[in-house]
Amino acid sequence: MAQPKQAQQDLVYALRRVTESAACAAFDWIGRGKSNEGDEAAVDAMRAALEEIDLDGTVVIGEGEKDEAPQLYNGERVGRPDAAFKADIAVDPVEGTSYLAKGLTNALAVIAVAPAGSLMSPGPAFYMEKMALPPKAKGKIDPAWPTQKRLQELAKVLGKNISQITVFVLEKPRHRQLVDDIYEAGARVALYPAGDVAGALLAAMPDSGIDALMGTGGTPEGIMSACAIRGLGGEFIGRLDPQLQTEKQAVEAAGLDTQRWHKLEELASSQDVFFCATGITTGLMLEGVERLDGQARVQTLMITGATRERQILTSYQPA
Ligand code: FBP
Repeated sequence: MAQPKQAQQDLVYALRRVTESAACAAFDWIGRGKSNEGDEAAVDAMRAALEEIDLDGTVVIGEGEKDEAPQLYNGERVGRPDAAFKADIAVDPVEGTSYLAKGLTNALAVIAVAPAGSLMSPGPAFYMEKMALPPKAKGKIDPAWPTQKRLQELAKVLGKNISQITVFVLEKPRHRQLVDDIYEAGARVALYPAGDVAGALLAAMPDSGIDALMGTGGTPEGIMSACAIRGLGGEFIGRLDPQLQTEKQAVEAAGLDTQRWHKLEELASSQDVFFCATGITTGLMLEGVERLDGQARVQTLMITGATRERQILTSYQPA
C-alpha cells in the first residue's frame, strides 16, 4: 500500500540528500582521469547518507557482489532495520564514470527505491536492449517491430512528422545498423558515448527534445530507468541482450530467455517508486555541481511514483 502523501514527499526529499552527497563527493574527481577514485568517493558519501534515511533497504542493484565491493554491494542492508518501509534499493553513485574522469557532460548520481521485492533482479545479464518512450506512446509500440515501423507509429501517436523525431542511442559499434535504420526512416539520432539512464528518462519526458531511446546498454541501468519511468508514466521495455562471451554462457546456464521483452510492470512491479538523480557534470537533463563562495549549488530530479510527480530542485548548501 502506498504511504501517505506527506510521507512520500518527505522520503523523496530525504533521498535527494543521498544523490547530492554522492555528486558533491564526485565533484573533486571531475576531469582527473581517475574513474575508480571518483566512484569510490561517491560510494562512500552515498553509503553514509543512506544511514539517515527512514527505510529498511536492501541493495538489489549496487556496486557488485560482496567480495568485489566493500560498500553498497548487492544484498547489503542500508537505512534503519526498524523502519516500516521495507525497500529494494538500486544505486549508481556515478552513472557515466567515463564522463566524470574525462570532465565531460552528463555524469549523474542516481538512486531508485521501490517496495521490497518489486525490482527485477538483473541476474548474470549485464546488457539489455531497451526502448523508452513518452507517456502518449505507452502500450502502442511493439519493441520487436522493425525500427522504421516503430518510428512511423511513434510519429503518429505523438502527432509529429517522422523528421521531427529524435532518438537517443549510445554510440557503440553494436548500434551501427540501428543508427542507419533511424536515418533511413528519416528521424534524427542523438548519439552519446555513455549515460543511457538520462537518455531513457529524457525519452519519457515529453518536453525534453528526445522522443525515444533505443539500443542496448547496462541491465542495472535499465532497471533503474524503468523505476523512474513508472513514476513518469512513460514506456520502458527491456530484453536481456548479452554481449560478452562469459555473460552469454552465464545467461544460458541460468535458463534466461533472451527473446522475451519484459514490460515496465515486470521490471518495476510497484507504482510506489522513488527516484532521485543529481547532476555531477552539467548535461542534457540537469546542471552539474558548482562550487562558489563556500557553497555548492546542486540540481536534483526527484520522482515520486504514487503521485506521478516530477520535480527539479536547485539548492545551495555549505561546501
Ligand atoms: P558507467 O557509469 O558504469 O560508466 O556506465 C555508463 C553506461 O554508458 C551506461 O549508461 C550504459 O547503460 C552502459 O554504460 C553501457 O555499457 P557499455 O559502455 O559497456 O556499452
